[in-house]
Amino acid sequence: MRTWSDHEIRRNQVRIERIGVIGGGLMGSGIAEVCARAGSEVIVHEINVEMAEAALGRIEDSLARAVDRGKLETAERDQALGRITVSTDLDRHSDRQLVVEAATENEELKKQIFADLDALVPADALLASNTSSIPITRLAAATGRPDRVVGLHFFNPVPVMALIELVTTVKTTDETRDTARAYAEGLGKTVILAKDRAGFVVNMLLVPYMLAAIRMYEAGVASAEDIDTGMRLGANHPMGPLELTDFVGLDTTKYVADVLFEEFKEPFYAAPPLLTRMVEAGLHGRKAGEGFYEYR
Ligand code: CAA
Ligand code: NAD
Repeated sequence: MRTWSDHEIRRNQVRIERIGVIGGGLMGSGIAEVCARAGSEVIVHEINVEMAEAALGRIEDSLARAVDRGKLETAERDQALGRITVSTDLDRHSDRQLVVEAATENEELKKQIFADLDALVPADALLASNTSSIPITRLAAATGRPDRVVGLHFFNPVPVMALIELVTTVKTTDETRDTARAYAEGLGKTVILAKDRAGFVVNMLLVPYMLAAIRMYEAGVASAEDIDTGMRLGANHPMGPLELTDFVGLDTTKYVADVLFEEFKEPFYAAPPLLTRMVEAGLHGRKAGEGFYEYR
């Protein structure tokens, strides 16, 4: 006779089908795409109609790429697109079972979003943040349901990267953790568990490396191209550290560095002056058309 493991029983208890995603930028559009590809019905919230249309455009482009690369049938692409709605009306999230916040990396903004969602979504719904660095406890404290709040940290580009960090706080219940884990695994991702410390696991290791590369470039040790070629060919990284910073976004990288520095006070987390100046100048990387490199 077939027996069910505890994990399978828990997985069968709650079936999450209605997802909300707050923010349809680089990450939110990718999260919406993978959730819809896995069969969920997804509403993406953006701040205005232009941003909402841009989010949908990003999703359509990525799905088209998946079809071109033979990862998806055209019928599956159409079904996934049919499950996604973009909207500027937060009230549409009132029937969501899980909302993943993927708005700009800014603590005050995220706290406000969590408070607004808490007042809106059903009492048993889960709230998650895709923050790169901000402790989840602070976002959970903005709600009346800290037991149902987790970090679900996806990686960029979401449809390609296999990892999700699942971050629990001292208030997160085991049931919330298990439900979130089952949903994340159902997206085809590998889940690692992390405690609620700024940067979790991956960014605590990756961000100081990116900052060290910026310092090296700023000190004139080598050109940007040579630093990147060095790490691509010498360490077999898919991208060099400066290309990667452009890819992540310099604004996001700076914010993450500041949060890590505030938490640990270690000099290797301090944002180099060049990064700060580039962010102030609007050189936010690939999404802005210019960072360490120009993009056309
Ligand atoms: N859906 C599904 N699959 C897709 C896809 C899509 N929309 N787009 C591309 N793919 C697949 C491709 O088919 C290909 O798969 P195969 O190898 O099986 O053929 C694979 O993804 C790679 O795609 P490409 O050939 O188009 O791209 P590439 O080889 O130039 O690689 C890259 C692009 C994946 C971005 C690679 O350069 C890379 O891995 N870079 C590093 C990314 C990284 O480190 N991300 C983490 C950033 S840090 C972060 O996210 C955390 C944070 O909080 C800041
Ligand atoms: P992004 O700048 O591409 O997108 C952020 C989006 O949030 C924008 O489209 C903006 O209009 C929207 N937004 C801002 N305020 C909003 C609000 N009140 N309601 C709805 N939408 C709002 O940024 P991103 O790179 O997608 O980052 C989003 C989150 O994901 C951040 O917390 C970031 O740290 C995290 N993250 C980023 C990466 C990365 O590589 N860029 C990787 C993992 C996690």
